[in-house]
Amino acid sequence: MKYEELFNELKVHGQEHLLHFYEELPEEEQKKLLENVSRLDLSYAEAFAGKGEEIQRGTIEPLKAMTLAEEEAHAKEYREAGIRALREGRAAAVLLAGGMGTRLGTDGPKGCFDLGITRPVYIFQRLIENLQDSVKEAGAYVHLLIMTGEPNDRATRSFLKEHDFFGYPEEYVHFFVQDTAPAVDENGKILLESKTAPAVSPNGNGGWYSSLKKAGFAEFLKKQGVDYLNTFAVDNVLQRICDPLFLGAVILKDAAVGAKVTAKTGPDEKVGVVCLEDGHPAVVEYTELSEEMRNARDADGRLLYNWGYINNCLFRMEDLERASKGSMPLHFAHKKVPYVDAEGQRVTPSEPNAWKFEYFIFDIFKGMKSCLPFEVVREKEFAPVKNPTGVDSVESARELLKLNGYQL
Ligand code: UD1
Repeated sequence: MKYEELFNELKVHGQEHLLHFYEELPEEEQKKLLENVSRLDLSYAEAFAGKGEEIQRGTIEPLKAMTLAEEEAHAKEYREAGIRALREGRAAAVLLAGGMGTRLGTDGPKGCFDLGITRPVYIFQRLIENLQDSVKEAGAYVHLLIMTGEPNDRATRSFLKEHDFFGYPEEYVHFFVQDTAPAVDENGKILLESKTAPAVSPNGNGGWYSSLKKAGFAEFLKKQGVDYLNTFAVDNVLQRICDPLFLGAVILKDAAVGAKVTAKTGPDEKVGVVCLEDGHPAVVEYTELSEEMRNARDADGRLLYNWGYINNCLFRMEDLERASKGSMPLHFAHKKVPYVDAEGQRVTPSEPNAWKFEYFIFDIFKGMKSCLPFEVVREKEFAPVKNPTGVDSVESARELLKLNGYQL
């Protein structure tokens, strides 16, 4: 796009400051700036105008999960149905690895983190090994799609290639990059990360399906006969992936979506809770859970909103496709974002100075006819690596891995 054309378009949106340094840049850099700015999705900054209005929630009610006892009672039929579906190539796995892993304090992709003590045990390795368990049980490979974010895409690909995809056949591994959203200051102005690039970051894990589609994988998967997608987070090193029991239960219960859940450790655990909103399946994120919902108890004294969402879902593709036509709410997060000021000085803020935009994966549940929350045993299936120490950390994940017989 030419300078004038872009300038005029930006002006309409009040974002023409993005070209502030254009004149002083060498020609090559000018080109880069125009390219970077013209790729921006300005609708995010537009949405910022509505930031004052909280996301309106409907009437929230608890949603029952399929309990361990119910799963046990039907284990044989669920497992068989799941294995059959895997064998027929009806399921694929989607790894959500577009996040930045900032809480862990690593620069690189979170999946490259080494949890090993006496030998390397990378997060990616653990996840692929977990997937291999299902592959072995079914006797058939499943396609593994890996969503990266722009900042970690190259490092993720080369790391996995270097490690020979931890034994997974390369022809079954596919990558796609998730879309980005710009960061804006308190006045809704998009920040410049450098004189040639706006500050952008991945648009939240709810951007996964539109990014997958854009990369042509929805078509690809349909052609392959895939009709269930198991999305899973990069940080849970104990999770079962394409778990036949879960898959079979979702199929036989005819659920549009299944979500693995575990009983919360207490009101303040940082997990989203699965519930109903205006009669539709939904998740309320831990950051948005009201004091009242957090502490509400049933007649037996148990937490009313007890089912913690562990970010391992099974989506039926036809329902996903339908639900993805609706709009998703945009969540705002107040963050520290380094930027270049009007004088061209790089500023590293010590306090949050910017707003980032994120879609949440589970917000699509609201457009689904039905959801099956599926209970799992925490100690066996939930070991998230979010912090270096303490709760949900490298330390706690190591303990849980050892408890499950893994050599570190
Ligand atoms: C997430 C869930 C929360 C759940 C908890 C369980 C969301 C929005 N929240 O919280 O309800 O109880 O896990 O551990 O999912 N990601 C991307 N792109 C992005 C942002 C994130 O791919 O733009 C990926 C991350 O790489 C990770 C997953 O999404 O695999 C979860 O992201 P994170 O931001 O760590 O969510 P939590 O706050 O831990």
